[in-house]
Amino acid sequence: MKKLLKTTLSVLAGLTLSLNTLAAGGVALDSANTDINDQKSLQNGAKLFMNYCSGCHSIEFMRYNRIGKDLNISDADVEKNLMFNSEKIGEKIISSMSKTGAVQWFGTTPPDLSLVARSKGPDWIYTYLRSFYKDEARPFGVNNKILVNASMPDVLWELKKNKSAQDFDQDVRDITNFLDYVGEPAKLVRVDLGYKVLSFLFVLFILSYLLKKEYWKDVKYGKWRAKD
Ligand code: HEC
Repeated sequence: MKKLLKTTLSVLAGLTLSLNTLAAGGVALDSANTDINDQKSLQNGAKLFMNYCSGCHSIEFMRYNRIGKDLNISDADVEKNLMFNSEKIGEKIISSMSKTGAVQWFGTTPPDLSLVARSKGPDWIYTYLRSFYKDEARPFGVNNKILVNASMPDVLWELKKNKSAQDFDQDVRDITNFLDYVGEPAKLVRVDLGYKVLSFLFVLFILSYLLKKEYWKDVKYGKWRAKD
């Protein structure tokens, strides 16, 4: 039995690993280690996203004021730090890049990133943003290890140059964390509620167990049956 369990577990582990590798086109993914409850990380991720990504990518399922509300940023700070054009705070986050211009510059339109954390997973995004390498044959002089011939330039190159490897990884982790939140804003509530429900069930379990013991004491030795 133990052996069977062991074999099943190792087969499952192997399968997950190879599926991961498959998703990345043959390159193993680094673990993003994001924490959706880390508000500071989400706030930094939002700021970095607006500065480095929103010029090309929309996240059209998200509105500016929702970010403010969920991440505890005041409306004034959202307007000052996260909005750069003439949008209004209740509007969706749509990049100002024109579609025809994008095709002309990149050969494709930068995809909307609202759900990218759901479709590709945080590990993929985290690895992708850290996997650009020099390749003069490409239009922007860079290529990517997991999205081969990506038509996206290495937009974080300056950040990478000016930071320690550790700080840069943390910034990328924050952007990934932010995109994970954008993919499912309810996760903030859901995960929190999950812990509360489980703690409640745990307490209920102890009380029910004590109550059961109390009842059975009577059934075993009580009025209905003499103590043997
Ligand atoms: C200069 C424009 C531009 C900027 C700025 C930019 N991207 Fe991109 N991005 C693109 C283009 C174009 C693609 C499509 C690449 C392809 O399919 O070859 C892309 C693709 C992606 C993808 C893959 C999506 C998918 O489903 O395949 C992700 C993830 C992504 N970008 C994240 C980001 C993040 C995060 C930032 C900010 C740090 C960013 N991008 C900044 C142009 C940009």
